[in-house]
Amino acid sequence: MTYTREQLESLLALEDFHDIYAQADALRRETVGDVVHIRALLEFSNHCKRLCTYCGLNATDQKLSRFRMDPRDMIATAQEAARAGYRTIVLQSGEDPWYTPDRIGDIVKQIKKTGMAITLSCGEFPEDVYRYWRDCGADRYLLKHETSDPALYASLHPDSSLDARVACLRTLKKLGYETGGGFMIGLPGQTLSTIAGDLLLLQDIGCDMAGIGPFIPHPDTPLRDAPHGSTELTKRAVALARLLLPKANLPATTALGVLDGAQKENVFSCGANVIMRKVTPNNLKKLYQIYPASFSDVDIRTGRRETEAEIRSMQRTPV
Ligand code: 5AD
Repeated sequence: MTYTREQLESLLALEDFHDIYAQADALRRETVGDVVHIRALLEFSNHCKRLCTYCGLNATDQKLSRFRMDPRDMIATAQEAARAGYRTIVLQSGEDPWYTPDRIGDIVKQIKKTGMAITLSCGEFPEDVYRYWRDCGADRYLLKHETSDPALYASLHPDSSLDARVACLRTLKKLGYETGGGFMIGLPGQTLSTIAGDLLLLQDIGCDMAGIGPFIPHPDTPLRDAPHGSTELTKRAVALARLLLPKANLPATTALGVLDGAQKENVFSCGANVIMRKVTPNNLKKLYQIYPASFSDVDIRTGRRETEAEIRSMQRTPV
């Protein structure tokens, strides 16, 4: 469907959003069905050279204890995830130069042997690096644009620009990656018009996936005193993303669940069809603090079963 920025802005502001939720839910059923995809998420390094003012992993945070997984341990964890039934693994990290393009390429090649699809989510790289990883077997790439307002983007990211970010996304798309964008709701200075622009940017890039989650302040970042994003507005943005990108994979984001577990479940009736489950080793999981959150310490197989049961309880089919 096509909407103008003004139309999206007034939809976001509606008093009663019920009809749009219903439309998004019906369209989701038609385009991607009742299946919910469970993705394994392996957070392999919390080192980061970037200065993003909202993120707990940003380079200036001295309090955080940093870890890097040995590539052999990453491969072993991926194998365990495959045995537990996962068909896709997301390899996510801060922008950590220890993992050179060759190292990541080798890890991708090894994990590819499990038969799982591989999603990379490790930041901005030049085209030749993205191409190399694609040749090694990477199928998908997640790189949220975070906000479509160039001035806001620059203030949140002192070391990069929206143009560079969007250029990466277009390159990924051109190289044949299933490309994942996304943004945060409730960033200080964001307006409904910004969110309308965020939605249109996803459509313009032709995103195959879009992660939309509320901003959550982290106490050791410059944005510590900013209020968190609205869960209602997050769900509205997901519903509109479904209308704009009918076939996209739209996750119920972890951040939404951190603010409100019930809303994370509810977003599956507003257009969402994907959930991520951490397979990061329990001792490291706690240190991957993008925003403050706690996660249960169950093993990979139990975690997978729990998530499958949650999906079945919503009358949907886990895959
Ligand atoms: N609150 C919510 N989401 C955040 N992210 C980073 N920091 C925060 C925060 N404080 C999101 C960004 C990033 C993803 C990995 O996590 O959208 O792309």
